Amino acid sequence: MFTEECQMSGVGIRHETYDQALQKLSEASVEHHFDAFLDVPWDDPDYAIDPKDPRWVLPSVDTLGRTEWYRSLPLERQIEVGLYRQANAVKVGLQFEQVLIAGLAMYCLGLPSNRAEFRYATHEATEECHHTQMFQEFVNRTGLNVAGAHTWFRALGPFLPLFARRFPFIFFVGVLGGEEPIDFVQKEILRSGETMHPLLLRISQIHVAEEARHIGFAHQYLEHRAPRLGWFDRVLVSALTPLVMRVLCDAIVVPGKQALRDMGIPKEVAREVWWRSPESQEGRRAMFGDIRMLAEEVGLINRISRPLWRLMGIDGRPNRYRNEPARAA
Ligand SMILES: [Fe+2]
Ligand SMILES: [Fe+2]
Repeated sequence: MFTEECQMSGVGIRHETYDQALQKLSEASVEHHFDAFLDVPWDDPDYAIDPKDPRWVLPSVDTLGRTEWYRSLPLERQIEVGLYRQANAVKVGLQFEQVLIAGLAMYCLGLPSNRAEFRYATHEATEECHHTQMFQEFVNRTGLNVAGAHTWFRALGPFLPLFARRFPFIFFVGVLGGEEPIDFVQKEILRSGETMHPLLLRISQIHVAEEARHIGFAHQYLEHRAPRLGWFDRVLVSALTPLVMRVLCDAIVVPGKQALRDMGIPKEVAREVWWRSPESQEGRRAMFGDIRMLAEEVGLINRISRPLWRLMGIDGRPNRYRNEPARAA
């Protein structure tokens, strides 16, 4: 079920196009890549982290940053909460990417020779290693002992990569479930043009640039594999997709209990931001516009899965094109 080997027969024009697309992604990774220590000016005094720097105040595009509660805090508390929130988001991102790297290695372990996926998946793992180095270095330099991901995610993390070997289709659904929300949030902040600390700005720019390829690969993979699924697998993955998306979205986007305590966010405020307020629910739907587009295209939206997208609160109009800005969505 969902294994690579049983789907090897589908060689044709579509297959060649898919291989060519992966080859292009691989070549792009060779030509344009970033090194965590060469390409970030860590020791430039302009990039130093000062925990009293007002540039750590959360931008208004941030879901917490725009709340009445946050805006009414004294400036020094806004800076304190802002630095913690941003460092914690970076830590959560790197923990997700650690699981992803392990998953990519497990996926490659099951691949026969001469597969275009091997080369691109290992380019992706290389880039993710640099991201985890870059993210951890940033967290280290904040001097904060941030909580990171939810306890359940850290507990299950070592087991999630096992899915990549036996159930690669669902694994790549999960890759998108983690990468799309991170990418969406980073792009929303970059597009807003609001003041950012230059170190975080540099890290975000590098990350967004390389994630475009990773997300592209996952889209290519799912588009290529979906037509080769049997009817039972298709129904199963179509039902699992919205569940995986929502669970991973919450794992990535919603701070865990310890992080909420560390930042001193009142429970009522946390409940509104994640996800009781209509505005936050709209924001969550907007995060999945690209995925809904992909799911429609590859036939994963059907009578069984459509209500699940609604139940998970991530339904809505699919994007018309990749990276369509949220405002238009
Ligand atoms: Fe990454
Ligand atoms: Fe990535």
